Amino acid sequence: MSDWTRGYRTDVNYTAGYYPYLNPAAHVFSLLAAGWRAPKLDGAFTYAELGCGQGLSIQVHAAAAPHGRFFANDFMPAHIATAQARVDASGLANLDLSDASFADYLDAPLPKLDAVVLHGVWSWVDDGSRADLVRFLRKHLKPGGYAFVSYNALPGWAPIMPLRELLRSGEGSDSAARARAGVAFADKLRDSDARWFAGNEPARTMLERLRTLPNAYLAHEYMNDSWRLLYHHELATELDGAQMQFATSASLRDSLDELVLTDEQRALLAAIPEGPRRETARDFCTNPLLRRDLFLRGGVRLSTIEQLQRLNECTFVLNVPRARIGLKLDLPVGSVTLAHEIYAPILDALQDGPRTLGQIRERTGEQNDIATTIQAVKVLVGAELIAPCLPQAGLAERKAIADAFNDRVLFESLHEAELDVLASPVTGGGFRLEPIDRLFVFAIRRGASDLAGLAWQVLSQLGQAVVKDGQPLMTDDANLAELRRREAQFRAEMLPLLRQLAIV
Ligand SMILES: C[S@@+](CC[C@H](N)C(=O)[O-])C[C@H]1O[C@@H](n2cnc3c(N)ncnc32)[C@H](O)[C@@H]1O
Repeated sequence: MSDWTRGYRTDVNYTAGYYPYLNPAAHVFSLLAAGWRAPKLDGAFTYAELGCGQGLSIQVHAAAAPHGRFFANDFMPAHIATAQARVDASGLANLDLSDASFADYLDAPLPKLDAVVLHGVWSWVDDGSRADLVRFLRKHLKPGGYAFVSYNALPGWAPIMPLRELLRSGEGSDSAARARAGVAFADKLRDSDARWFAGNEPARTMLERLRTLPNAYLAHEYMNDSWRLLYHHELATELDGAQMQFATSASLRDSLDELVLTDEQRALLAAIPEGPRRETARDFCTNPLLRRDLFLRGGVRLSTIEQLQRLNECTFVLNVPRARIGLKLDLPVGSVTLAHEIYAPILDALQDGPRTLGQIRERTGEQNDIATTIQAVKVLVGAELIAPCLPQAGLAERKAIADAFNDRVLFESLHEAELDVLASPVTGGGFRLEPIDRLFVFAIRRGASDLAGLAWQVLSQLGQAVVKDGQPLMTDDANLAELRRREAQFRAEMLPLLRQLAIV
């Protein structure tokens, strides 16, 4: 193996996934909701993704927010070549890609950054690369800028960790084949009633999951020489080297105590001073496998008035068609039904399009006090029923760029089913669509009025058919009838939402 890899497996390309947790608009809302000053997203903000893989997330974020300047690196040239091809084909002008390693990217001529995101990187690279990343954050993040860091967390991984030993013992022609052979061997051990599996439910659950995951994911997750599982307080100590402090989770759902902790746990944690020790103790209660943390480089607390002012200006949009939203949530603490009189008016206020918190409050009138409305909005964002947005000004310019990018993605997704996300210039992030709904958007973008007719024309040219109840439909009539039924459903529910998201 050549040493530029620093023990990272580069013989198989990584999967091309989109990660909504990397959306800057979501980060800013999480920071504000937790009472921190956050960068503003209306000016030319600057954002970098390090170790971007095939770059789908950064492309979506750059296309949805062309007023921002985006930068990304990954030392696998195949990843950057794939990402650059889509950037060129869609004419994205605000994204610079580099195949530099973390060490070399340190000296790249970058502007001072508002945000740096590291997804799927911290736990998977060697100590030297992590030290390079700390140096990068210290050198390139603005004072007041933030970093997103995801990592494999302890204690969640503790009972599962030895599975990696089994995956790495597999044999095959490349890392992906070896990992898959390792999963097959682990299966056999489990079936033989090996005692480690018999007494270890989390490991059995993870093994079931591994069977469904792509080989490339297994290779990049399990086969590298370095694989660091860490407690939150260890990351906090490491990032102190970049003068950074923990602010909050990037997942609002994970950060809302009332959604994830019992009353007893909340009382127990309240007795520990705020800081890494409490956060680590919290992980023993919630037991996450992956943490998604936001750290600030020089965090400044907002006064209550400043926080209210910034929150009032935040815009929100529905993330799910209104008709499909129920108020029952399945949470770690059990099933919870949200109070209709608090939540329904907020959802109704968003039914016709994005609204600022201030506008939501005007519409819902005196019904809820400000604290109740803010709390309810946080819960709805945490439940992914509504999404924070970019500022409303500049939407038309953003939409023109996002449309060009989405047209390219729609074209490519005819051949690549996993390319399932389109950029929303409203949220600044991606929105996932089912394959048939993507075909309907493709038809709309081509000016068709008979969406089902055009969708069937495309599918038949590709030699594909609509799948119903797990079976492909065999005749033209059956395919068209099913597509017409789905078109009616799409027009009633999804199309109005896509208009609000400015995707069509
Ligand atoms: C697990 S993948 C995650 C990719 C992407 N962030 C995502 O979540 O889809 C880690 C990525 O980091 C890149 N990487 C690892 N070590 C690196 C280094 N020293 N310099 C630059 N990139 C590196 C790998 O090539 C790989 O694409």
